[in-house]
Amino acid sequence: MTALLAPDPTDTDRDRRLRAAAMRVLLANWTGSGTVPSRSLYPHQWSWDSAFIAIGLRHLSPRRAQRELESLLGAQWLDGRVPHIVFNPAVPSHAYFPGPGFWRSSTAGRRAGAPAGVQTSGIVQPPVHALAAWLVHRADPGESRRRGFLARVLPALEAWHRYLETHRDLGGQGLAAVVHPWEPGLDNSPCWDRPLLRVTPAPAGSFRRADLVHASAADRPTDLDYARYVGLAAAYRDRGYQDHGRGDHGHGDAGVSGARPSFAVEDPGFNALLIASEHALADIAEALGADASAPRRRARRLTDALVRRLWDRERGVFAARDLGDGALLPVTAVNGLLPLIVPGLPADVAGALGATLAGEHFRLGEVHMVPSYDLTGPQFDAGRYWRGPSWFNTAWLIHRGLRATGATEPADRLRAGILHDAGATGFAEYVDPYTGEGHGIRDFSWTAALTLDLLTDPEDTR
Ligand code: SER
Repeated sequence: MTALLAPDPTDTDRDRRLRAAAMRVLLANWTGSGTVPSRSLYPHQWSWDSAFIAIGLRHLSPRRAQRELESLLGAQWLDGRVPHIVFNPAVPSHAYFPGPGFWRSSTAGRRAGAPAGVQTSGIVQPPVHALAAWLVHRADPGESRRRGFLARVLPALEAWHRYLETHRDLGGQGLAAVVHPWEPGLDNSPCWDRPLLRVTPAPAGSFRRADLVHASAADRPTDLDYARYVGLAAAYRDRGYQDHGRGDHGHGDAGVSGARPSFAVEDPGFNALLIASEHALADIAEALGADASAPRRRARRLTDALVRRLWDRERGVFAARDLGDGALLPVTAVNGLLPLIVPGLPADVAGALGATLAGEHFRLGEVHMVPSYDLTGPQFDAGRYWRGPSWFNTAWLIHRGLRATGATEPADRLRAGILHDAGATGFAEYVDPYTGEGHGIRDFSWTAALTLDLLTDPEDTR
């Protein structure tokens, strides 16, 4: 470790204890080159987890935070994709499902450019990495420059964005599409219920879940959802992880060749994070003395497409678009609020999002953090993964968005709620929005990391 930052003298006792506890979680979950989200439930390296973890880890050790991102990017495929899991070969194969034997990246993914020396999954997660790299740099620019950090990660981050903006532009309208519910990160959100009806579940008994050994079944996706996740991932693998988007040979209407995946959705959260990361790439280019106009232009084009394609003015929230039938999905969920972090969102859209956040669907300030799904929705379930519980990463993103748009009072309230819930639950994976009770596993890395970030840098949104 290169730096262990001294506690801020303005800390209260509660904050000092919380800071120390968050650091302990990050130290315990560090493997030598990256951080596991959880020693039990998620014992490998996960893509968007690593980005959020790096954002907190930068306050404990900027050097480790750099390595966190570099080790993840080290498993990037030649087509630019950053896989959602990088498997640790030292972890026993029964510890996680679907593991390397299921994804078979180095053989099934060979044509798409999967690396030979490391096993990964073949799907992706939201592109928070350029934003994380920029924030890691800013924690200690001198150390970052000495190690040539930004110059080293920039080409990988550019290739990652290019993959999403070409291969994954499955709708041909300038947005990135996700091809599996694990990709937007909100695995079993009610948003995906309708598009998932087209997916053939893997046969019962053809696989064994490992997650239920570590977490309560009531907190996790159902068996039917899981069978669909497995069936969909197997079909993608069996197509060689080919995407048939704008960047692929023989693209065009992918449906004509029967190549369009049975699940293809434009998600507002995923694209909002891509836009925030394009702005971060521009900041990185400027810090390196390079031309930042291309990423800024891409950010503007993506923002226009996001508003044109996914803004639901009547409901005052962004919605996912199902490319299966072209329809906007009539589900109100936290992914529809994440565009709050997009710089330069039209003022009326940002204002309407603020009102929705405060209204009956999310009740900011009255419930714990921000529920993952509409509190009034028919599928609401306060304890089941992304069907209602409040999560720390989405709350952190919304906090950042509120602060950047000058909504200081709701941002302060949300920050206080995040810190309270993290401390009260022992860094739970997610909490019941009504009671604040922790669900899923404890000592969850991004919960600890983002707590540490808010304790250290509450005002900073650059
Ligand atoms: N979130 C999924 C899981 O529970 C996939 O990464 O394993």
